[in-house]
Formats: sequence, C-alpha cells, structure tokens
Amino acid sequence: MITDKMQAALNAQMNAEMYSSYLYLSMAAYFESKNLQGFAHWMHQQAREEWAHAMKFYKFINDRMGRVIVREIEAPKTEWASVLEVFEDVAVHEAKVTALIGKLVEQASAEKDHATGVFLNWFVQEQVEEEASADYIVQTLRAIGDSVGGLYQLDHRLGKRE
Ligand code: FEO
Repeated sequence: MITDKMQAALNAQMNAEMYSSYLYLSMAAYFESKNLQGFAHWMHQQAREEWAHAMKFYKFINDRMGRVIVREIEAPKTEWASVLEVFEDVAVHEAKVTALIGKLVEQASAEKDHATGVFLNWFVQEQVEEEASADYIVQTLRAIGDSVGGLYQLDHRLGKRE
C-alpha cells in the first residue's frame, strides 16, 4: 500500500514523464520541419523512453495497490531559435526532472516507504545519464558554433541512436 500523499506524488511524476515525452515529440517535429532527420530521430527515441518512464510509474502505482489517475498533459513549446536552444532546453528540463525525483526520494524516506525508495533508485541513476547526454550535446553544439558541416555531422551521428 502507498499513502494518499505518495499516490498523488507518483501520479504527478507519471504526468511529468508524459509531459517530457510530449516535449521531446514537439522537439522532434521542430527538427523535422528543419529537415534535420538525425536530431528528429534522437528526439523520437527520447520521447519513447520518457513514455516508458511514465509507464514504470503507472505499473508501480498499480503494484502498490494505488490508483492511477490520468490527467491532461501541458502543451509544450513548439518553436526554437536554433538547434542549440533546443538542447539547452533539454538540459534545463532534465535538471528539473532530477529535482522532482529528488523530492520524491525525500518523501519516500520521510514516510519510511522503502519499496518506493528502491523503485526510485533506478530513476536517480537514469537522471545522471539523462543530464550527461544533454550536456554532451550542448557542449558539442557550442564547439560546432556556426559550422553547417559540423551541424550535419552531429545530425548524422545522433541519427544512429539505438
Ligand atoms: Fe524521464 Fe528524461 O526523465
């Protein structure tokens, strides 16, 4: 069993993961409009991953005999000034998600809800990777600067994401 407070917090995080998926789908659509297929592919993969994160929360809430509540997903931004601006937004967004997961960990600890604490460990690790990969792309784009060749090389590389 989970407390009502924990159930609300887990449902809120499920919604936040759905929003992440929606945000990355919007970024994929932006890249498609710019004919940057590699970046679009990377964002589609990211959107799928985020949906899978949401489903982990969905399953966990049910496994703990809680009630999943599906709510509206906030509309994400649809336009960016540059590829760099998109990935700067990814980095800022992932830092926010890390903070949200941190708050959940603190709540689980305060409630002595060990099962939720263990469940959240996976997300703590995942956020390390998420922040590192966003930072890597931001740093690479800053190094590329105005080089169109460099941008297309990175587009090609990100298009190979499994
Ligand atoms: Fe599910 Fe990118 O955090």
